[in-house]
Amino acid sequence: MDISDWPPLGVTAFTEAMAGHAASVAVITTRTPDGKACGLLVSTLCSYSVDPPSVLFAVGRSARSYPALTGCAAFGVHLLDRGHRELADIFAGRVDDKFAAVAWRWHGPVPRLDGVPQFLTCRTRRVVPDGDHAVMIGGVVALETDDDTGPVRDDPLIYYRRRLGSWETVFGDSRSGALTD
Ligand SMILES: Cc1cc2nc3c(=O)[nH]c(=O)nc-3n(C[C@H](O)[C@H](O)[C@H](O)COP(=O)(O)O)c2cc1C
Repeated sequence: MDISDWPPLGVTAFTEAMAGHAASVAVITTRTPDGKACGLLVSTLCSYSVDPPSVLFAVGRSARSYPALTGCAAFGVHLLDRGHRELADIFAGRVDDKFAAVAWRWHGPVPRLDGVPQFLTCRTRRVVPDGDHAVMIGGVVALETDDDTGPVRDDPLIYYRRRLGSWETVFGDSRSGALTD
C-alpha cells in the first residue's frame, strides 16, 4: 500500500508516545513590530547543526507570539534550569503582560530575562509554516553564560509525561511537578 493510503494515526496514541519523549524547555523572546517584548515557553527547541551553529523550534499558530516571531529578524533563547519553574509558568500562560511580572532588559534586538545564565541570541534564517505550527530556524550569533558553570548545565528544567520539573522530580518522585494530571 502506498504510504499516502495508510489510515490516519489516532491522536491519543501519538500524544501518549510523545509524552515519553523527554525534552528540556526554553523561553523564546522577541520584539513585536511596535517595539514591545513578547515570548513563550517551548519544549521544541533543539540544536541541529554546529556548522553553522543553528537551533530550531516550533511555534503554534494560536500563540499570540506567532506573528511577531514568524516576522522577526532575531530572537533570544533562555535555557531554563530547575530554579526557573516560576518563569516557565509565566511564559506558558496567557497572561496579558508576561514581562510586567519578570525582570528583563533589551539585549540588542531581543528581550533578555534576568536570572537565566544560559542565553543565545539568534538571527532568524528560515521560517517554515506547516500545519498548525511554524518551524523557526535560527543561526546562533552569540552564546552567553553569566555564571561559572560555562556551557554545561547539570540540572535543566525538563518536560516529561506532562510534568515539568527537575530531573529528580519528573523521573523520580511522581507526586510533584504535575502540570495537567
Ligand atoms: C512544557 C510546555 C512546552 C510548550 N512548548 C511549546 C512549543 O514548543 N511551541 C509552542 O508554540 N507552544 C508551546 N507551549 C505552549 C505555550 O508556551 C503557550 O501556549 C503560551 O501561552 C503561548 O504564549 P503566547 O500566546 O503569549 O505567545 C508549551 C507549553 C508548555 C507548558
